[in-house]
Amino acid sequence: MSEAAPDGPVEGELRRERAVRAAVAQGIVGEERPLAGLLDVTGIRRTARALRSAFAPLVATGGPSVRHTFAVRATPLVPVLRLLYEDRIGAEVASAAELALARAAGVQPGDTVLDSPTKTVAELREALGSGVLVDADDAQELARLDALREEAATTSTCGLRVDPHAGKGRPAVFGVPLGDEGAREWITAAFAARPWLTRLHAHSEVRDGGAVAPERLVEGVRKVYELAEEINAAAGRQQVDALALGGGLAAGACEGDAGDGGGADFAGYAALLKETVPGLFDGRYALVTGFGRSLLAGHGLLLARVEYVRAMGGRRLAVTHAGTRIAGPRHGRRLAAYDAQGRPKEGPVLAQDLAGPAQFDGELLASEVELPELEQGDWLAVLDTGAYGFARHHAYDSLTRPGIHGFAAGAEGVRFATVRGAQTPAEFVAESGAAHTRALTDDL
Ligand SMILES: Cc1ncc(COP(=O)(O)O)c(C=O)c1O
Repeated sequence: MSEAAPDGPVEGELRRERAVRAAVAQGIVGEERPLAGLLDVTGIRRTARALRSAFAPLVATGGPSVRHTFAVRATPLVPVLRLLYEDRIGAEVASAAELALARAAGVQPGDTVLDSPTKTVAELREALGSGVLVDADDAQELARLDALREEAATTSTCGLRVDPHAGKGRPAVFGVPLGDEGAREWITAAFAARPWLTRLHAHSEVRDGGAVAPERLVEGVRKVYELAEEINAAAGRQQVDALALGGGLAAGACEGDAGDGGGADFAGYAALLKETVPGLFDGRYALVTGFGRSLLAGHGLLLARVEYVRAMGGRRLAVTHAGTRIAGPRHGRRLAAYDAQGRPKEGPVLAQDLAGPAQFDGELLASEVELPELEQGDWLAVLDTGAYGFARHHAYDSLTRPGIHGFAAGAEGVRFATVRGAQTPAEFVAESGAAHTRALTDDL
């Protein structure tokens, strides 16, 4: 099947099964490498193309474009950013380090959006100096932009981030709460005073823990679109010429936050947008998207060795190398069991608890989950961990970062490429201040 063809749960599952088997056979994982993150490159490419083709037909021919960016926080890995960029998906960055990751991947400044709530003057100066798009969060940040734009000319376009659902009773975490008293008037005045403010960014929720219903996302976009129309009417010209829509979609069409292997429903989302906010697509507004989870989550899996199986209080507990610390928060996560050779585990299912390696109660990955009976040396795959998962784990108990590998399963077999090498204990020691061992005893 060509990589332009739409993906489906069956194709994704077949690729995954081949990859797990090959990872064991090729020593990507093993007794001494009991944990690895695997990324399905074919799946990522297809999903990136599905996103593009969901929006492309809706945009007026010859009109402003749709610029897609990937929310780097979801999977902050340079090769992943490069892979997406080759499919014309830029980067949405929220820190100096994320900006550096995007740069390292070769993402051009004009395809990068900076929109953290705590941008320092230095970060803003750097962004404006290189032409990175900037979305500001409040009056104080706008004042910084005023000053920096006086200081030097810039090619960056700038916008203001708005939380369309926030206001009385629901405070905004960042962005201007649109429901606050006087917010609309203040925003309109802020745009009137700054002809260079040309974008509104709709940010519907903070979603590290889960996806947002498409209806709620679209409702947020509708409110921000109406605000743009008001600003433009007041300005007597098309001052706001771009709307950033953010991310927020689930990784699968029908399983809430978890992927279902079939990919995110970008086409359904774009169609709902067009139906609810038709003016968005009539050629007056350029669009910017910033999806994270929906592009990557379903295409990553953690492969963890079952190290021990214990009987505890009448329950069966499999202790593996993957817990919540690395798999991320649990939201209907899918799991799969494989035998010691990486073949799908057969046999009757039974209820089992699954714990990870870190010593805290929250490390329980699943409780009473129905899987074929796990034994020592088997492999557990924790699916849907490609975003907000293994690429950014917490180093509780100083557990080191596992290696991450991309895979492509073709006619010639399964090939792996290292995305990030496994962190060694020596690297961990170096990162933990080894160069300053005597700092506290001798230097003070
Ligand atoms: C500004 C912004 N854009 C995009 C995203 C990505 O969201 P998701 O990964 O749910 O698509 C987030 C997530 O927090 C965000 O804060």
